[in-house]
Amino acid sequence: MKHEKIRIPDLARMKSARRPIAMLTAYDYPFARIFDLAGIDVLLVGDSLAMVERGEENTLAVTIDEIVYHTRAVARARKRALLIADMPFLSYQIAPEDALRNAGRLIKEGGAEAVKLEGGIAIAETVRRLTAVDIPVMGHVGLTPQSVHRMGGHRVQGRKRGGAPGCRERLAEDALALEAAGAFAVVVEGVPGSLGREIAARLRIPAIGIGAGSDLDGQVLVMHDMLGLSETFIPRFAKPFAALWKEASGAAQAYLREVRERTFPALEHCYPETNDPVSRQVANED
Ligand code: KIV
Repeated sequence: MKHEKIRIPDLARMKSARRPIAMLTAYDYPFARIFDLAGIDVLLVGDSLAMVERGEENTLAVTIDEIVYHTRAVARARKRALLIADMPFLSYQIAPEDALRNAGRLIKEGGAEAVKLEGGIAIAETVRRLTAVDIPVMGHVGLTPQSVHRMGGHRVQGRKRGGAPGCRERLAEDALALEAAGAFAVVVEGVPGSLGREIAARLRIPAIGIGAGSDLDGQVLVMHDMLGLSETFIPRFAKPFAALWKEASGAAQAYLREVRERTFPALEHCYPETNDPVSRQVANED
């Protein structure tokens, strides 16, 4: 399975076979290439790029042009993984026509194979319109970062009971509404593990968790959290599988030291004056 192209129906097959789906965000060519070669099933060009790539406080400022730009870079790197692009805040909420146009750009210009939208019952009609013209949609319920102001921050959802947005019963209904509208999978973010489990069990389509416990059909992490590429904050649900911040910082300090000491560049990094084959070989020119 590792080397075969992952397509949308494969995710349903993985759910049936109880084979967990591994998804990561990616925003550029080199990391997308690394993740694709490692066998990650799904790459998401998330609007989280506002926070992890640009240092903003939330995801709201991202534009469709920016997601198209990053999606193109990831699309060039990716051979096997399914590629999904996030629809940014207000690129799909104003009118279904906007949603169609913007989702179309992510697919035609960006090279995405599917789009992801945040919300449940409130966006079900838009999901229906997109899937009716064969634009595959992944939903996203629970802690939906585009609702940061309503939630009063990036807060765990589904702890209160009831039918209001963010409450436990409502979140399950939101996920079911997305499935009924034609979504092929749903991200469930920032909810207690028991709710993550309940949503995955009630849905026929795959439920992919982030901070939603271990009993879902797959997991997704923001690549910076997975790689230890953040300066300080690592959310409770994330596990750094590497320490790239520390590694990169050490490399920058070593470079700085060698430039100051004039030990870099060494002879082998300099172009020789003569053009003879031995000198060219030493200088790594060929
Ligand atoms: O934007 C993003 O990175 C996401 C993931 C957290 C699922 O939506």
